[in-house]
Amino acid sequence: MAQTVCILDPDGDRPRLAAIIADANCAQKHVWRAPSVGLSGLTQISNFHPAWNGDLLAATLKRGAALRLRIRDNRVVFVEPIELPSKRIRYILSDNRGSVVLWNDDSSLLILRPSAENYAGGRVDSIIASLNVSDRLARSLRTTMEGCEECHSVVAGEHVNAPNIGDVFERKIAGSSFRNYSTALRQTSGEWSEENLRLFISDPQGFAPGTTMPDPSIADPEVVNGGIAVLRDLASVCGRN
Ligand code: HEC
Repeated sequence: MAQTVCILDPDGDRPRLAAIIADANCAQKHVWRAPSVGLSGLTQISNFHPAWNGDLLAATLKRGAALRLRIRDNRVVFVEPIELPSKRIRYILSDNRGSVVLWNDDSSLLILRPSAENYAGGRVDSIIASLNVSDRLARSLRTTMEGCEECHSVVAGEHVNAPNIGDVFERKIAGSSFRNYSTALRQTSGEWSEENLRLFISDPQGFAPGTTMPDPSIADPEVVNGGIAVLRDLASVCGRN
């Protein structure tokens, strides 16, 4: 990865930890200053789970939580709090063999391992396998849909941090029982037709300015169309809920 992440105290008399994202020559690209959660450590996740690999995990003293940060183009594009049954985290490391180790204030260790269960992923995989597309496109679609499933469940009626997209095709926009829709999406009328999905997935802010869904940055229109085909088939498999 052509980026280095270092933690340091850039503020002198107002000590505060920050992640500095630098290029291979250590030229600074971006500084992310932690909100006041008492950042105590930072690690880059590798060999953990495809959905998390490459992200940063920040340990915090204040919240009994770690923060997962995704960096794209040298910017932090989203921050997900990971609630942990722990106290204050003093140190964090990704051990390269598939675990993340957290060292707590009371000297206990908490070890995170990815779940072996790839929930509902099998359903998406079998839909992709049934589409008449090249191996290359099928691979891109699997990676893309895994990205969506980081936030979205594909099980109809089940919401995690985002509305489920298992039965989103032709559903009313912001029309599920998910409670945390943005005002932007609530105020958008219509349903998730093929065309609306294409506009939204290609450019969420362009379609609904102020939406809280980050841009999935899918450059290849074939992948966008394939993703919509997957959502259409998922809705027919999942049914309405
Ligand atoms: C980082 C988290 C995240 C990722 C990754 C993500 N989404 Fe979203 N998505 C959201 C959030 C949050 C919302 C609710 C947006 C709002 O209320 O403004 C949303 C809303 C949606 C909606 C509208 C749902 C409704 O009920 O109206 C669709 C469709 C959607 N996402 C599709 C996708 C697809 C397809 C992908 C993968 C290419 C994806 N999302 C990736 C967080 C994410």
